Amino acid sequence: MANGESESGHPPDLMNKLTSLCKRRGFVFQSSEIYGGVGSVYDYGPLGVELKNNLRQAWWREMVHRRADIEGLDAGILMNSRVWEASGHVEGFTDPLVECRNCHRRFRADELEGVQCPSCGMSGTFTEPRQFNLMFKTFMGPVEDEGAVAYLRPETAQGIYVNFRNVHETARQKIPFGIAQVGKAFRNEITPGNFIFRTREFEQMEMQYFVKPGTDAEWFKAWMERRMDWVRRLGITPERLRFHEHGADELAHYAKAAFDIQYHFPFGWQEFEGIHNRTDFDLSRHQEFSGKKLEYFDPASGDRFLPYVIETSAGLDRTLLVVLADAYAEEEIEGEKRVLLHLHPHLAPIKAAVFPLVKKDGMPEVARRVADSLRESLPVFYDETGSIGRRYRRQDEAGTPYCITIDGVTLEDESVTVRDRDTLRQERVPIAGLRQHLQAALEADPL
Ligand code: GAP
Repeated sequence: MANGESESGHPPDLMNKLTSLCKRRGFVFQSSEIYGGVGSVYDYGPLGVELKNNLRQAWWREMVHRRADIEGLDAGILMNSRVWEASGHVEGFTDPLVECRNCHRRFRADELEGVQCPSCGMSGTFTEPRQFNLMFKTFMGPVEDEGAVAYLRPETAQGIYVNFRNVHETARQKIPFGIAQVGKAFRNEITPGNFIFRTREFEQMEMQYFVKPGTDAEWFKAWMERRMDWVRRLGITPERLRFHEHGADELAHYAKAAFDIQYHFPFGWQEFEGIHNRTDFDLSRHQEFSGKKLEYFDPASGDRFLPYVIETSAGLDRTLLVVLADAYAEEEIEGEKRVLLHLHPHLAPIKAAVFPLVKKDGMPEVARRVADSLRESLPVFYDETGSIGRRYRRQDEAGTPYCITIDGVTLEDESVTVRDRDTLRQERVPIAGLRQHLQAALEADPL
């Protein structure tokens, strides 16, 4: 460990620095901030929404567009409440909760160490644990009675299972095949925290792969490898990635086997994606509760069976936190500190920033023309305020891979400098070939 780095190799106090950078640069804001905020919900600002869209699109390209055997879906957040009875969530989606009798704060019993309250410091004041259901409950329609109860979905997976037949029949897929979906999920977490790591409203990127029973172990292994490979391609430091196998006490009520992909955060090793063998648990329960046949007929063998499901389930917000935490770096350049985000260029919210060196001699006009022409094909940002050094620093913090400067030479020969965020190398490129130059650089490492 050097210069006070944490065990994970991150700069000291990274989570605070990241939270403040995210607010300062417009990545992530606390929800309802002007009202004092709301517990563990976050809003994505102008740069954050671009980063999140880019990550979501990279996942979609990898999981849907590049594969002939996976179809996309966008199911509703609200579903028939019987879905959640069938899935086991009404009964089993609980965390053990204890309350401190002194300060009345509540905690997850399985996360407490010892008998001392982390909030008020009193010992031996905890109540017995009781099971607390994490689903948000509401009512559909004008009458607030038991028959009108609806839940905000705690996972997107169930929308896929209940559409299994619809998708399989309309897309004419044969097993093995998958259905992928990205969307919001809600959990009334007892102890949310660590910025966007555990929130009450978040997005999941889930894929359910339907396979013939007996082939599930093989597919499980294949998906573990494929998902880890994708995470590495995002540019995440390999030493900060590992698998964690769920022991019998950790397995969710639906899973036969589960491996997490974990990241070494400054606050320890934590999961951000899970690969689960859900067997035929969900389809058989939905078949039982709905009374509708969900069996698959295999035309090749003439067999009828309920497929097994291998699930890959990633949190979009949590993967975004991995991306940000891993990209954050502090460097010293000629005695000055610079903070930068080494974002993969495909994930970077802004691909190029355009600056006139000075605000005179016609440079702003040329710079605006260059920015406008690039904007047709790339997200670009124009900036003429502050010294050129400060403008570079601002873009380093936003993770912008390229900065283009219009200077005195531009006025003579129509060329500009292109500065690389990571190497700090600058090269001169003719304005006429600038778009192709940037596109070629971005294509060099596709996601
Ligand atoms: N369908 C399976 C499922 O939902 P999970 O392990 O409960 O499995 C999958 O959740 C992923 O969803 C997690 O790895 C995490 O990335 C994300 N996730 C779960 N709860 C979250 C929360 N409260 N805040 C942010 N992300 C969360």
